[in-house]
Amino acid sequence: MTPAPASAAPAALRGHIVTFRGNPFLMPPHDALVDEPDGLVIITDGRITHAGAYGETIRHLPAGMPVADYRGCLISAGFVDTHVHYPQLPMIAAYGEQLLEWLERYTFPTERRFADETYATTIARQFLHGLLRCGTTTAAVYCTVHPQSVDAFFGQSTRLGTLMVAGKVLMDRNAPDYLRDTAQRGYDESRRLIDRWHGRNRQHYAVTPRFAPTSTPEQLELAGALLKGDDTLFMQTHLAENRAEVAWVADLYPDSRSYLDVYDRAGLVRPRSVMGHGIYVDEHDLCRCHESGCALAHCPTSNLFLGSGAFRLFDVMDAKRPVRTGLGTDVGAGTSLSHLQSMNEAYKIAQMTGKRLHPVQAFWLATRGGAEALHLDDRIGAIAPGMDADLCILDPRATPLQALRAQMCDSTADILFTLMMLGDDRSIRATWVGGRLVHDRDMPAI
Ligand code: GUN
Ligand code: ZN
Repeated sequence: MTPAPASAAPAALRGHIVTFRGNPFLMPPHDALVDEPDGLVIITDGRITHAGAYGETIRHLPAGMPVADYRGCLISAGFVDTHVHYPQLPMIAAYGEQLLEWLERYTFPTERRFADETYATTIARQFLHGLLRCGTTTAAVYCTVHPQSVDAFFGQSTRLGTLMVAGKVLMDRNAPDYLRDTAQRGYDESRRLIDRWHGRNRQHYAVTPRFAPTSTPEQLELAGALLKGDDTLFMQTHLAENRAEVAWVADLYPDSRSYLDVYDRAGLVRPRSVMGHGIYVDEHDLCRCHESGCALAHCPTSNLFLGSGAFRLFDVMDAKRPVRTGLGTDVGAGTSLSHLQSMNEAYKIAQMTGKRLHPVQAFWLATRGGAEALHLDDRIGAIAPGMDADLCILDPRATPLQALRAQMCDSTADILFTLMMLGDDRSIRATWVGGRLVHDRDMPAI
């Protein structure tokens, strides 16, 4: 276990606790939800020691410990973003293209700038503050091909005490010269970054081949070699996001049964592997994901923005072989760092496919589901004794319209639904990381 930041002062939070005792795709949503309208969370040394009804939990409050009063707001585990690119923050909302042209026209030139570590540090800082402002406390993050972009990111995350997963992008073909490494250089640079950052404070390394078209088979093999023998390491890549991309992969890897199989042959399909998107996958692939423990990151705002397609969430979560799944913003193809917005668009994609995404299911995906996808659910994603105190405070009355709509809410599920349909960063009253207040909407200096 990695220690929580030692500087965290003891604290307690009072408000409406919402968290999970089970997976609402596999049991009735109301049975999966832990709902404590007047709750108390007590934190010591960055971890939750007690959580429950205020009337019962107050007797555990150490003498003199201050209580932050969030009555009228929900206390949730911090959101988990399972797929996002920090260097793409400056190019969010780039007009007009679908995936492959969008990469060439906007993404690669933007990522070039991260050769400059000072620039990378500035953007990493803005990105992390942007996440915290949206209630996201953990993310699986792509840096660029430049090792210094990884140093910049983990340096800023260490400063804030956030639990992050990140890695250097590997790309040794089908990319501009200025963004290409070689299979050997990518291996060596990743190895050095793993030694420097993995398991240091709350930072975790992800071996990060961008996607099959920009890596040779040799590079994917070496990515597998980096992972071999260390099951604490993460792996992240893109999978079957766009039809033209899938056709390209079939051309480049004619011997593979499927896109997923390209990664599988290299030893990249395993626990703590996170595949972004997974829209065009078949039953065989989903069975393989289920049995291997690898995860899919559903990125609704990105899939709509790039016109990529509709993720089959309820098929993926089928009880006969559920696949670990979290939500990803996929900024800069995604259009918001806010998981409330991810939930909003996930609901609409489900509607378009004839399904109904229950608000309890949506909030589970954004918290506990994401933590399970990363195999970090023993640390984050729920409110319970022993868990890291990474929390977000949600205000259901953040705007005049939401205050009006809140008057009609007659259940916790309805409060959650209005938050996911109408909410954004204004709905995040505060964010706590490792028991420390790191964002306060009403006191912007923090
Ligand atoms: N596939 C390969 N690279 C990328 C990327 O940067 N964003 C998205 N959405 N898909 C990708
Ligand atoms: Zn992506």
